Amino acid sequence: MKQQFDQSDELHTKLMALSNLQPQKTEKLIGEVEKPNNIPPLPDGFKVEPPQFDTSKRLNQGPKSWDLPQELYKKHLPKYNIGTIVRIQELLNAGDSYIGQTVTIAGWAKTVRAQKNLCFVELNDGTSFAGLQIVISEKIKNFADIIKTNVGFSLKMTGSVVQSPAKGQLIEMLVDDNLKHEVIIVGCADPQEYPMAKGTQKPETLRQKAHLRPRSNFFGAVTRIRNNLAYATHVFFQNNGCLYIHTPVITGSDCEGAGDMFKVTTIFDNDLQKVPQLNGKVDVTQDFFKKETKLTVSGQLQVENFCVSMSNVYTFGPTFRAEKAHTHRHLAEFWMIEPEFAFADLFDNMEAAEGYVKFCINYILANNYDDLEFLNKRVKQGLIDYLKDIVSKEFIKCSYTQGIEILLNAQQAGAKFENSKIEWGMDLNSEHERFLAEKVFQRPVFIYDYPKEIKAFYMKVAEDGKCVRAMDMLVPQVGELIGGSQREERYDVLAQRITECGLKLEVYRPYLDLRRYGTVPHSGFGLGFERLVMMITGVENIRDVIPFPRYHGSADW
Ligand code: 4AD
Ligand code: MG
Repeated sequence: MKQQFDQSDELHTKLMALSNLQPQKTEKLIGEVEKPNNIPPLPDGFKVEPPQFDTSKRLNQGPKSWDLPQELYKKHLPKYNIGTIVRIQELLNAGDSYIGQTVTIAGWAKTVRAQKNLCFVELNDGTSFAGLQIVISEKIKNFADIIKTNVGFSLKMTGSVVQSPAKGQLIEMLVDDNLKHEVIIVGCADPQEYPMAKGTQKPETLRQKAHLRPRSNFFGAVTRIRNNLAYATHVFFQNNGCLYIHTPVITGSDCEGAGDMFKVTTIFDNDLQKVPQLNGKVDVTQDFFKKETKLTVSGQLQVENFCVSMSNVYTFGPTFRAEKAHTHRHLAEFWMIEPEFAFADLFDNMEAAEGYVKFCINYILANNYDDLEFLNKRVKQGLIDYLKDIVSKEFIKCSYTQGIEILLNAQQAGAKFENSKIEWGMDLNSEHERFLAEKVFQRPVFIYDYPKEIKAFYMKVAEDGKCVRAMDMLVPQVGELIGGSQREERYDVLAQRITECGLKLEVYRPYLDLRRYGTVPHSGFGLGFERLVMMITGVENIRDVIPFPRYHGSADW
């Protein structure tokens, strides 16, 4: 097969004949039940060579690198004290240098074990996966109260750091009859009622207690990784010369043109009679912004404004989609990272995306190894090896047309897809995406050059007129992690696409203006932050990687 960036007509015609169907947009994924593991296995003997990728047509030839200096991979460990409190992370990371010192720590008891004249407490303050073991002697004046404490109690204590005789920990804390030593019981938690008192709880059970789930080992690990991924995002883009742009949450335009938007209005109250109306419709000119406004589905259109003035930029903020999708990877409120690069084509875009995802994985391997070890044991076996494998290999680049061909061949070889009508022009279903990434290539895959009918209006129309310069990064388990494209920089073509897609030209005037005054080729992508967290933690359900999930029918906490 001729492997080229532009779809070969011959291959396209062959596939159309093979599927014997016209291009057609498939239904959007609404109400899909949660079935994260229904991917068909690879048929016996089915093997696909990674497609070759022709780089001769790139806009920018020459060496490219998104690698950052090694020192940026390791996060500086903070010496963050509130008053005299030392954080447990700092103690555990300091080797033996605290041994012999008197320190104060504070946190929540994970376990309390009382013996005749000693009490053992494992205290965790959330700063690290491991807690600190504290041995309290009966000589402490409130010992009788201390042995009545339990999991979930908040405690503040001062004691000596000593070498631990126990296996697996270098240090522990001793609280004994030294004058400076003390244990303060800060807050109680009735063991009969404390929702986190029981041992290991499943993620679905923890979801029902979202206000307390950060106390669990599981959600603590996810939260620390999520935090470091947000930080790594800024490290990566800032050190690659991108400016952080705050794009608005409230907007009048629909970036994706899919219409899944939440309205923003102050016009409604309980009395319907008071809602201003005009010709039988709500009069939006009397609303707060004097026009119809919504919560953004993407910051892309606005970030592009800055890209064509300031070269390389990114936005990172909350986005909202009113999709009634009950899947393991959709939320109504999620966070998105959207970089935009000027004078850059789809190749540059894919390289940046690969560099960014690999940086994030390396960052977590370097800074959250304890958390990953726990997740590797409890959530997804082989997670650490999988992550190391991903960063060591080049991601696959496979055109949409090649992807359809692989799926059709797999089907002919016996792969059973639930959505069995595979045809050129269809929107890939999650099982198809995951089959390609998880079964065929077993690593992240870029699918590029999609039929224009299934993609948004702003994507650059390819030379063949049938495809747009779009790319999705598909990853095992998660499916689509990134959606991006080269943008249409030609005024006329863009205006025509807006109209074709049934959108109103006047709403997109400023966006069109960017093509009238000093237009440039430019490209960008959007990465769903929660899906990145899913990929790196091995967690299967998106509701378990965001502090307070919002989805159809649920906005608790
Ligand atoms: O593919 P999408 O819709 O692309 C855009 O919004 C573009 N404007 C991005 C750009 O080019 N600047 O969304 C981008 C990513 C998806 O690949 C997915 O990871 C995530 O956002 N995403 C969701 N994550 C959670 N819940 C949802 N409902 C999501 N919808 C999209
Ligand atoms: Mg997409």
